Amino acid sequence: MATQEKPKLGAKTAAEAGAFKIVNVPETYKHVIDTYVRDGTYVSTDEAESPWVPFGDNAAIRHLAFDIRNNVYANVLWIKEKGVIGTHKHRGMVWAIGLEGSFRYLEYDWVCRPGDFITEFPGHAHTLVTDEPDGMKAFFWMQGANEFYDENGEHVETLDVWWFINHYESYCKEQGIPINRQLYL
Ligand SMILES: [Fe+2]
Repeated sequence: MATQEKPKLGAKTAAEAGAFKIVNVPETYKHVIDTYVRDGTYVSTDEAESPWVPFGDNAAIRHLAFDIRNNVYANVLWIKEKGVIGTHKHRGMVWAIGLEGSFRYLEYDWVCRPGDFITEFPGHAHTLVTDEPDGMKAFFWMQGANEFYDENGEHVETLDVWWFINHYESYCKEQGIPINRQLYL
C-alpha cells in the first residue's frame, strides 16, 4: 500500500502569492461581469470618510456599510464609558468582533474582548453592557430589524437599514459632512 503524502494546505498558493503578481483569471462571462459587477468598497479610519455619530449620551456609531437589498448594515459601536445599550430583540443575524475594551450581555455568561468573535440570532433579546471605565468598541455586521424595548418591555423603536442610513445622513447634513457613497453597497 503506497503511502500518499498529503500536500501542505495552501503551500502552493502561498508560493505563488509570494510573487506579488496580478494573475489574469479566466472568466467565461467576463462581458456580463464587466457590465454588472460593482466595485468593492473601502472606508479608512479617517473620520472624514465616516464620522462618529452620537448614539445616546454615552455611545457613538461609525457606519461602514448599508445594503438595502438584504437589510444589512455594518458599523463600529463605541460605548465611551461604563454603561448600557438598551434591551433589544433581533429579527436577523448579527456577527461581531470585539475591537477595544470589553462588553457582555446581561443574559449571557461570556465577555467579548478584542479579537473575540460572537454571533446573535433572530429571536435573541438581550442587553449589552460594558463594565470598562474606558468603554468598548466592536465591529458589528447586522441583518434585519433590531427592536428596542424600555425597562417595562414596551417596544420603543425599530432600527433597520433605513434607520441606520437616516442616522448617518442626518448627522452628515447637520455637520456639513459630504455623504460617502462607499458606504452604500
Ligand atoms: Fe444584539
